[in-house]
Amino acid sequence: MTQPKNSSGENKGGETHQTAQGGTPVLTTQQGVPVADDQNTLRAGPRGPALLEDVHFREKIFHFDHERIPERVVHARGYGAHGYFESNGELAAVSRAAVFQKGEKTPVFVRFSTVAGSKGSPDLARDVRGFATKFYTKEGNWDLVGNNIPVFFIQDAIKFPDLIHAAKPEPDSDFPQAQTAHDNFWDFISLTPESMHMVMWIMSDRTIPRSFRFMEGFGIHTFRLVDAAGKSTFVKFHWKPKHGLQSVVWNEAVKINGADPDFHRRDLWNAIAAGDFPEWELGVQLFDDEFLKTFEFDALDATKLIPEEQVPVKVVGRMVLDRRVDNFFAETEQVAFCTQNVVPGIDFSDDPLLQGRNFSYLDTQLKRLGGPNFTHIPINAPKCPVTNFQQDGHMAMRNPKGRANYEPNSWGDSGGPRESPERGYKSFPEPVAGAKVRVRSETFADHYSQARQFYVSQTPIEQTHIANALTFELSKVQTAAIRARMVSHLLNIDAGLADTVAKGLRLKEVPKPAAAAKPTRQDLKPSDKLSILKN
Ligand code: HEM
Repeated sequence: MTQPKNSSGENKGGETHQTAQGGTPVLTTQQGVPVADDQNTLRAGPRGPALLEDVHFREKIFHFDHERIPERVVHARGYGAHGYFESNGELAAVSRAAVFQKGEKTPVFVRFSTVAGSKGSPDLARDVRGFATKFYTKEGNWDLVGNNIPVFFIQDAIKFPDLIHAAKPEPDSDFPQAQTAHDNFWDFISLTPESMHMVMWIMSDRTIPRSFRFMEGFGIHTFRLVDAAGKSTFVKFHWKPKHGLQSVVWNEAVKINGADPDFHRRDLWNAIAAGDFPEWELGVQLFDDEFLKTFEFDALDATKLIPEEQVPVKVVGRMVLDRRVDNFFAETEQVAFCTQNVVPGIDFSDDPLLQGRNFSYLDTQLKRLGGPNFTHIPINAPKCPVTNFQQDGHMAMRNPKGRANYEPNSWGDSGGPRESPERGYKSFPEPVAGAKVRVRSETFADHYSQARQFYVSQTPIEQTHIANALTFELSKVQTAAIRARMVSHLLNIDAGLADTVAKGLRLKEVPKPAAAAKPTRQDLKPSDKLSILKN
């Protein structure tokens, strides 16, 4: 609809008044009362004090004062878009989930993000990118909350606050903003050998993507799929970009950050506006208990991936992002993803990182979005019927209808919603037993083999980029012992890499290799490439 022109005119004080005419909506207060003058407070005389009676002024300023909500504790800077996921039916045999049935088209909302920077930080920071997808399925919302890297820094969620504290600005100075280039980050990393595989990835070009459209995405954890008969299959999820995988190089990243810190969000916005809709294939790696016994690592360990040679990726559908948000705050800022949002046919594994995440997201969102009713916000609301007896609380938009707000009740058809043993969510009945202990499984103990496998699978120029990035980042570290400790880990990954970095850092003495908790697979040769890395 074209907006009719406003009339404008100058009054004695010189300010501009634009008045509603024709179809132009009338400016109102939050109570719907038309506003006559939005330029001047109510005063006692033209030069007198402002009056408390000015409800329009007070309401306008009060609302402005409360515009900010806490930014996300991690992944604060992000950008989202709407689209759809279309299943080719290949997963229907192993999962009963409606979203995987042949031809099923499910609306989605995706938010891409950086991890460590604040909401106003630049897009091209060297950082992991979040890739979170909300599927509004017929059976409720499923959130696949992943990253653009298939592994993670830590194995157990209890270490997450330490990882993030170390990566964010230091608490006294509140700098540096950059995740990588500082002592606290490298101190934590060098004392956390399980992070070495992830370190190889973050020092690679993966953490300076050219655009969100050229990124892969990974669910990282092992999940379960469950079929109609209750049989379970393990799964890892992968997003493969139709445009292929592309990164910039470091000096391009630095220049882009200076010239246009909104480079990635602008790219997504403009591509969708131009009808060049970003598209990804959803791929899965499926495996069973038998495979778990033969896999040399533990599939519950989020610092490990499953090489595609061992379990090929099977395409099960495609996702297209074809609609921009109407309002950044309402949608991208208020969207709440949570790993615990799964639907019948999708279940969790015992990955200790995943289990911790299942607690953390809901907990943080309770605060970030101001109470227990954030699922009533349109971007978070399922697009299927939601009927339960939960009620009230701040901002309740959806309360039980009718007389009953409890069950069981005696009110028959007017008694509200009932359980459905056939359609309802059932957890996979995995048998569990064991003493309550705080120990890490021995099967999680090899921290270097896959780091090495990743490094040797890179092309020579990509290896140079990793060596350069490590040298650059570690050269910013003031504490010599931390630099040496990092080189001692690199010695367990690749002697050539360790040597290049040690020389680049001008280490006076090359340290001994770090003590490994478990022998690494030193038999790996450069030919042991991971095709997971080759898009
Ligand atoms: C936010 C991914 C581990 C806590 C996010 C987001 C992504 C993500 C993509 C941003 C979601 C959005 O766009 O709104 C991951 C991945 C992990 C991981 C892939 C490891 C495999 C963890 C762990 C914890 C955690 C271990 C805590 C124990 C959080 C919190 C937020 C968040 C609190 C903010 C959520 C919000 O405010 O809505 N994560 N994360 N994450 N993550 Fe994680």
